[in-house]
Amino acid sequence: MTHNLVAPATPSPDFEPDVELELTARVEAVSLLPGQATQLWRYVGSVLYGDASAFSYLENSHIPVIRARQGQKFRIHFRNQLPEESIVHWHGLHMVQRMDGHPMYAIAAGASFVYEFTVENRAGTYWFHPHPHERTGHQVYHGLSGLFLVTDDNEQQLQLPTGEFDLPLIIQDRTFDASNQLVYLPGPRPRNVWMQGFTGETVLVNGARGYSRNLRRSAYRLRLFNASNASNYMLRWSHGAAMTVIGTDGGLLEQPVQRTHLTMAPAERLDIWVDLSGLPAGQEISLLAESFSPSLLNVTASQTGEPLVQGARPIARFMLDAEQDNVSALPQQLSVFPSVSLVEAINHTSPRTVLLSMMQGQVMLNGRIYGAMDEYADDEIVRAGTTEVWEFANNSVVGMQMSHPMHIHNVSFKVIERIPAVGESSLAQQMRAGFVDEGLKDVVQVLPGERVRLLMKFEQHAGIYLYHCHILEHEDLGMMRNFMIRAALDSKPVATVAGAGSSARIELGTSADNWLSLTDELQAPGNCQIMAAIQPETAHLGRPANIIVVVGPDGGNTLLAVNNLGQLQPINTDDVQVFRSISSLQARHEFLLFDGMMDIGDRGTYDLFIGYTPDASRRAEDIIYNTAPLRLSVK
Ligand code: C2O
Ligand code: CU
Ligand code: CU
Repeated sequence: MTHNLVAPATPSPDFEPDVELELTARVEAVSLLPGQATQLWRYVGSVLYGDASAFSYLENSHIPVIRARQGQKFRIHFRNQLPEESIVHWHGLHMVQRMDGHPMYAIAAGASFVYEFTVENRAGTYWFHPHPHERTGHQVYHGLSGLFLVTDDNEQQLQLPTGEFDLPLIIQDRTFDASNQLVYLPGPRPRNVWMQGFTGETVLVNGARGYSRNLRRSAYRLRLFNASNASNYMLRWSHGAAMTVIGTDGGLLEQPVQRTHLTMAPAERLDIWVDLSGLPAGQEISLLAESFSPSLLNVTASQTGEPLVQGARPIARFMLDAEQDNVSALPQQLSVFPSVSLVEAINHTSPRTVLLSMMQGQVMLNGRIYGAMDEYADDEIVRAGTTEVWEFANNSVVGMQMSHPMHIHNVSFKVIERIPAVGESSLAQQMRAGFVDEGLKDVVQVLPGERVRLLMKFEQHAGIYLYHCHILEHEDLGMMRNFMIRAALDSKPVATVAGAGSSARIELGTSADNWLSLTDELQAPGNCQIMAAIQPETAHLGRPANIIVVVGPDGGNTLLAVNNLGQLQPINTDDVQVFRSISSLQARHEFLLFDGMMDIGDRGTYDLFIGYTPDASRRAEDIIYNTAPLRLSVK
């Protein structure tokens, strides 16, 4: 596996954080069970600057919680004190490629990485976990995951339960040996064992076996989160109340919905609201769980813990206090989703289909596994600013089938259609009844034989992101792929270009903000000399590259390129002309200048893209464009 040799990010002087945190991953003994402490891989952290409540731990737990407000700028100094490489991914958050915790950015033991990002997401229950390739399952299992809770103005106005009444419940299955140490799968071989995913002997809530707690007779927001590596749960209340759901992976629902039980695949979050004010003091209620392996084998009875109640295991017990609060009604309008409509989708009649399959000891996406860190196929390219329909099809005709919780980075989606397997089992039907497809999501359970269609809009960030199965053993086996979000083609021109007569000199600035800042127009067709600055994507630092200029005249479909003589030539998409080749792309904050003559023969408007290819490839689709096109107007 080749890694890009990327220097860890360092703080940038022009980024002014609202919150600055330190987050260290290290091995530490934590007392989880009576008796000997357990060696955990855990995150410890502290607030270096800003709101002191931005970093904390769940009560009586090692599990960290980062709290943020939409719009806040975070700088997080991640220090890897594990015995192996790691990197932190902010699951569900939308951010630039370099900060997303892609495995290509994994840092060595002892190294650090500085994250700088703005919290763009709406209020919701997001989380973070390691993402080094082939080690994610191992690291998460041994204790590395935390919550990233975002609030926003809309949520604040709703006056939902906060403080002690906003209680996360993190569900994870684990196996302990006789000396209280965690037992994980050996491996990753034999592959057939690994492919079944890890199922633990006991279900923990917030790191505790037999979780129990007193609650006031009041209203609570419980943030249910299945942080298990591979197991699925069906959850219900012991006292028979319906589950009132107010949020999913991507934040608050528009309206609350009710279910008799909830089905949660790995990595899924469901926020529920519960009013305990009408129950008698001293009553005990439990959250009951039935556990299922990825092949939907019910493993509840074989797990340990509290005695079973109607086939389900109480995993969290709550004793109701005498104190009773007046509970105001749950608002019926919780939020409004950002508008995304099916008619906007560029492919609403022909979804981008990803076939989930398992063959010869391998789990695959469209017959492929994870390859090089920055590899993606032609059918794994999308455009920023576009809306698409994706279909995860778990109906492969060859190989065995399991359920696969599919996750996509950097986007929230709506589940728009499920096409169940013909003759689906009654268990699968029961699981389906516990899905909450009304919400915005970033993980979706795809049952055996099922096809699930999703609607999503790729916003502004361009770059390489992941989509994968969130059964961590499947992800580590390679059931993961990159997809490329190309910069928007229709983005507003940043500037037009100065110049007059037949030979204009165009100077582009040398910082990211001003490098396309000139505003005049060319007065006549002719030659112009171009000097340009290129900001390489971090992933391509240190690699050889070709610098390319592509100009598209308005109204035409033909892309034009500048050849080595500085003349425009029509090109077809797999025959891009190289303008200049350089031996290696420099540091991210340095720009590579080149200059050359362009001959623009016709009046009109041209969109000028300045880009580069990170290798010898000359396919247009491999060009990484620096930014929005520069518009040239030739009068
Ligand atoms: Cu939790 Cu790649 O994701
Ligand atoms: Cu993710
Ligand atoms: Cu899977």
